[in-house]
Amino acid sequence: MNRIIIINGPNLNLLGKRETEIYGVHDFKGYLEKLRERYPDVRLDFFQSNMEGALIDKIHEVGFGKCDGIILNAGAYTHTSIAILDAIKAVSTPVVEVHISNVFARESYRHHSMISEACKGVVTGFGLDSYRVALEGLLG
Ligand code: DQA
Repeated sequence: MNRIIIINGPNLNLLGKRETEIYGVHDFKGYLEKLRERYPDVRLDFFQSNMEGALIDKIHEVGFGKCDGIILNAGAYTHTSIAILDAIKAVSTPVVEVHISNVFARESYRHHSMISEACKGVVTGFGLDSYRVALEGLLG
């Protein structure tokens, strides 16, 4: 069985409540349930934290053989965190960078990602469905 983990970073616990014109009205829990139903052969784990170090600890924990792929929405840390970049570089598990919104259609400070260079691929702008597209990419 494929084991994939979705890791969500800061403020993504507020999906469905936060800037709904950008991120939509659906919370992540409901979306994850649908994703699990759609991919019954995938073990889909989930972790969210607002703290940079906790995200790094989780990448370390799962990134050496405990799962087959990481789908990472690092939120605003995408644009700032060399530490998360280094964590992605350190582990052996492939990481796909995901964004709900199209970061290139937004403010210029969102156009640069610190982490893309270490990721297998980047998915941005498909709403919550960005996670499914990333999953398809990992499953090949
Ligand atoms: C985001 C885009 C980031 O720029 C922002 O800071 C987020 C969410 C997205 O999913 O579109 O928190 O990663």
